[in-house]
Amino acid sequence: MAWDNFIDDLKLQIDIVDVVGREVKLKKSGSNYMGLCPFHSEKTPSFSVNEEKQFYHCFGCGEHGDVIKFVQNHYKLSFMEAVEKLAGEYGIKMPERRSNGPRIDYDKYYEINAKAARFFYNSLGRGGGGKGLAYFRSRGLSNETITKFGLGYAPASGYDLSRYLLSEGVAEDDLIKLGLANMGKNGLYDRFRDRVMFPIISTQDKVIGFGGRAIGDFKPKYLNSAESEIFLKKNNLFGLNFAKREISDEDRAIIVEGYMDVISLYQAGIHNVTASLGTALTDNQARLLCRYSKNIVLSYDSDQAGINAALRGISVVSGAGGKPRIMTVTDGKDPDEFVKKHGREAFLRLADNAVPAADFRLKLAAEGLDLSDDMQKLEYVERIVPILRSLGPVEQDIYIRRLSSEIGVSENAIAMAVRTEEPGRRMPQSARMNRRELHGRRAGQQTRGQTDTDSISGRIEMSLLVLAMNNTRYLRRFTEDGIEFRSALANKIMSAMNSVDNDLPAGVHRIETEDIAAALEPDEERAFRGAADSIQIGPDDEAFYREAKNGYLINIYRDRRAEILNELAVAENMGRADEIEKLAGSLIEVDGLINSLTEESNAG
Ligand code: UTP
Ligand code: MN
Repeated sequence: MAWDNFIDDLKLQIDIVDVVGREVKLKKSGSNYMGLCPFHSEKTPSFSVNEEKQFYHCFGCGEHGDVIKFVQNHYKLSFMEAVEKLAGEYGIKMPERRSNGPRIDYDKYYEINAKAARFFYNSLGRGGGGKGLAYFRSRGLSNETITKFGLGYAPASGYDLSRYLLSEGVAEDDLIKLGLANMGKNGLYDRFRDRVMFPIISTQDKVIGFGGRAIGDFKPKYLNSAESEIFLKKNNLFGLNFAKREISDEDRAIIVEGYMDVISLYQAGIHNVTASLGTALTDNQARLLCRYSKNIVLSYDSDQAGINAALRGISVVSGAGGKPRIMTVTDGKDPDEFVKKHGREAFLRLADNAVPAADFRLKLAAEGLDLSDDMQKLEYVERIVPILRSLGPVEQDIYIRRLSSEIGVSENAIAMAVRTEEPGRRMPQSARMNRRELHGRRAGQQTRGQTDTDSISGRIEMSLLVLAMNNTRYLRRFTEDGIEFRSALANKIMSAMNSVDNDLPAGVHRIETEDIAAALEPDEERAFRGAADSIQIGPDDEAFYREAKNGYLINIYRDRRAEILNELAVAENMGRADEIEKLAGSLIEVDGLINSLTEESNAG
């Protein structure tokens, strides 16, 4: 069955009144059902369900949609997850996802992992003398916490788990595929040996993998399940299965670095906590988290690696549409140590005092500087200008005012530094810097197709050229504003235009297509005429120029962004902390530039 048909069919077979009715007490009222809205708090019912149209709508908060949307919003699921949930509950067969190749039997794998989790849990050694139990005790965990998180122990022998699972009828291949065992010279051996075990559970409540911590000083300290079809680190967060409810109820999530941080905080009564799985926070993890709350507090260790993780986290969370704040643990190396020492209230106070990204970066910029010294104050202003530039105008204003009183430099002077030149005439300082960097790399990139007028950058270049045809004064502006064309065709047209412009009589500022057609090859001419015909400049040249210039810059910054991400990946691989920090800073700066240019475009 085709997928579209399937969705229609699913909706035909399921009654929205039935699905909503499980969560909301509904009363028939005319042709609708009414109840208290589950999406905002209210005392009189304004939530209606229309049986005939299979639609819900809240007159109070405006939430509305079909049965799938309801399941998505109410249970915080993605579209696919909602569809799978409904299909499962109503016994409706899902179409094969891929027509060729066998479908992965996820349930079988979850089943095996669940058996493994139970095995580790049983191996803790509750009978006494157990190493696993003793370890968790030494870290202050209660029985209740151990059970809650399903913590366990992988025996040192190296074959107990494999033997057990094989005896349960699990295939060797599946053990290997799930990263629970490897094939050695002498047969199958367990991946996890003499480690305490942390099951990693998806938001769908399935055991998808494990983290194992060495009990002594063995390396690596933490070992995760190998990535498998059901375990992709970049898509999951540790503890989110337990935390998701509280995260959406409190409308705040706290991200920490480690397993033990999540568990200790949980035991201390702080439940809206989750950890990325030994990786830097990924885009997918941030998006997943943002489904539950956009307010995300990053609570990383207070060392340099933690600061880098926070800088990167800021940009990843913002990119996913979330609002990052950063909290700093003042005593102890991580949240686990802190909460054990100072307790729940003290930790929550720190979380409440978490600062927005800009404050965090401004504070970092002051590091190592003595702000009572005028020269160093100057250095500080230079460092913070790019941070301020990345903010929206209102925020900028607020921070400038605050900084001014803090460091004793006039608001005007800081504002001047931020908005150096008259906008529109010259590019802001930061833009010029970035473009200079870019131009260095650009040579090899020059021009893809000869007549590339359809790509985004191609179209923007054509728009600028057509503008200059109409009004040759813009030829100068391009030079002044540092606009350089990428495509060979655009460059060719530019030089043709410049030479025609030199011959134009005084007072004439217009070039006809015919005037430059002579300089072009037939296919170039066709491409140019096609583009020229489809571009409407409108009555306001300046507005058109601003828009096109923004598009041009956004494009350049997007390319730069992609480069930075590549460089970040390399730096992360090599563990170059200083480089990572620098790149994370650049990433935030470029994001800020893209955002403000996009906002500007949307506003005007
Ligand atoms: P930390 O080294 O900060 O450990 O790693 P921790 O969480 O404080 O651990 P304890 O308190 O000594 O038990 C933070 C997180 O980074 C990942 C793990 O997810 C860990 O919880 N990590 C660390 C690894 O994946 N592998 C490692 O070798 C080390
Ligand atoms: Mn720790």
